[in-house]
Amino acid sequence: MNDKTVFIKTYGCQMNVYDTMRMKDVLAPLGYVAVEAPAGADLVILNTCHIREKAAEKVYSDLGRLRPLHQAKADAGGRMIVAVAGCVAQAEGEALRRRMPIVDIILGPQTYHRLPEMVTRVLREAGHTECDTTFPVDPKFDHLPLPGGEGPSAFLAIQEGCDRFCTYCVVPYTRGAEYARPVVSILEEARHLVAAGAREITLLGQNVNAWAGEAPDGRTWSFGRLLRDMAEIPGLGRLRYTTSHPRSVDADLVAAHRDVPILMPFLHLPIQSGSNRILHAMNRGHVVAEYLNTVAALKAARPDMMLSSDFIVGFPGETEAEFQETLDLAKAVGFVQAFSFKYSPRPGTPAAIMPGQIDDAVKVERLARLQVVLAESQAAFNAACVGQVMPVLFERHGRYAGQLVGRSPTMQGVFAKAPAHFMGTICDVRIVAVGSNSLQGVVDGVTDERKAAE
Ligand code: 5AD
Ligand code: SF4
Repeated sequence: MNDKTVFIKTYGCQMNVYDTMRMKDVLAPLGYVAVEAPAGADLVILNTCHIREKAAEKVYSDLGRLRPLHQAKADAGGRMIVAVAGCVAQAEGEALRRRMPIVDIILGPQTYHRLPEMVTRVLREAGHTECDTTFPVDPKFDHLPLPGGEGPSAFLAIQEGCDRFCTYCVVPYTRGAEYARPVVSILEEARHLVAAGAREITLLGQNVNAWAGEAPDGRTWSFGRLLRDMAEIPGLGRLRYTTSHPRSVDADLVAAHRDVPILMPFLHLPIQSGSNRILHAMNRGHVVAEYLNTVAALKAARPDMMLSSDFIVGFPGETEAEFQETLDLAKAVGFVQAFSFKYSPRPGTPAAIMPGQIDDAVKVERLARLQVVLAESQAAFNAACVGQVMPVLFERHGRYAGQLVGRSPTMQGVFAKAPAHFMGTICDVRIVAVGSNSLQGVVDGVTDERKAAE
């Protein structure tokens, strides 16, 4: 079979990065080889994100930009199949094709295991199009091949969907109800990833710490129990998970952070707002004090624990005083990383029709002020790293020859001069300088027992 080429553009969250890798895996048996640019590709997939309006609009402008490439391929006697996958596809369905007729395939996040048959049918019949935005009863995980090698740091989806219905969020609608993968299939995929070279696994889910899954003993395991079992996999050096909901950090999970050394001392724990009234309007299901108690419990269990968070500014009705509370909370916790967004009304969500929608100019101004505070605590943390020696897992080559890039336990990017065979090893690195958004270091030694023995 002649190789065909597929280009996949990924928007949005890590779950989409994972989905993109899985789509490459299901297409490989059809002879599709992944390429880095859309020009000339036989199949172009946009794996989309619907979380904020800008993300959806970007998909339409990217589809517009594809049109000349689509035409050029046809002029050369070929055919470029265009597929839109992910949450925009789920939300827009056939409406997408009415606006962008070059789209052949529309598939939601739950159906990409059906991609090979959809592509085959489109190729076979002229003018045939496909749209599948259903939530099948048999979960897609049961139909996916085990992943290929993905390097030293791999993702593993263990949970999908969300039952929380925060009033601003489309995820419960686009990703559907919570589904937890059973333990056996998670451990099988994890062992496979480690055998393929992964030293670090990040467990993924929209609401990952709400995972509670079927175990081989017929019982339902807690998330903490799963982490303890994962940690037993020989060769696995680091374990992470994202994204967590504050309400689902229970005592068992806190204890896992105390007991499991390979569980990294870093947690992305979105708070969204520092105002109890806004948290209530967002239907977050917790107040500020509960969040702070959780942070304190995590730090008591693992004193080097650092936090990152998500924030939304300009939620409907947010007053200046309530926004101030968000600034105060951000200062109090001292997040080492954070993502902050202007509230974006999403059609069909309760907050989109709430009174008191905030002017964009106010959102812009609040976002800028919050980002100053967040940048300060991030910079202060990074500066305090200088002089410290920390274990870094090298996972890719840097821009300069002889340079490797990895991550510290608390997720800072670390650049260091290191021989290529240090790739995929955990090394002790002495931090010597702070870059704009990263750390620079010098390798002190290889701490990784497995590689050091080679
Ligand atoms: N507007 C702005 N930000 C949003 N997020 C989710 N929905 C919206 C929205 N409608 C943010 C939240 C969430 C992150 C993934 O995206 O902060 O944690
Ligand atoms: Fe969206 Fe809230 Fe679910 Fe997170 S917890 S995915 S913000 S509904």
